[in-house]
Amino acid sequence: MTQIINKALFDLAVQAMNKAYVPYSNFVVGAAIQTVTGELYSGCNVENASYPEGTCAEAGAIASMVRDGQTQIDSIYVIGKGEQLVTPCGGCRQRIREFSTPSTMIHICGPEGIKKSMTMEELLPFSFGPDNLK
Ligand code: THU
Repeated sequence: MTQIINKALFDLAVQAMNKAYVPYSNFVVGAAIQTVTGELYSGCNVENASYPEGTCAEAGAIASMVRDGQTQIDSIYVIGKGEQLVTPCGGCRQRIREFSTPSTMIHICGPEGIKKSMTMEELLPFSFGPDNLK
């Protein structure tokens, strides 16, 4: 069922997930990005007593990447627990899209490995991106 394509990236996502701050939902999420230049970044969800101020794991990983001067995602691993796929929320689909191409790979994982892989185009079809502003 499961296949680990990029062990370093998967392990980074697991480590991030294990740092999630989730006292309200108790729902841990980790995300790890590999850029087209091979750099790796990660993030976890960080919740807040003022619930809407919480941030998603993908947002943390993207902020870390941009802080380091990188803006091109090659692939992203998103990991959570439970039976359901932890697919990026609507807002995070758009956040990932900003730094992706239609063929950027999104791998949805559980602790055992990859559960489902898809392209950016599949995750967010007919998306609005930087080119739409031209
Ligand atoms: N969450 C993420 O970190 N990424 C997603 O794409 C889906 C949702 C987090 C937000 C919140 O802390 C918890 O999962 C439950 O919604």
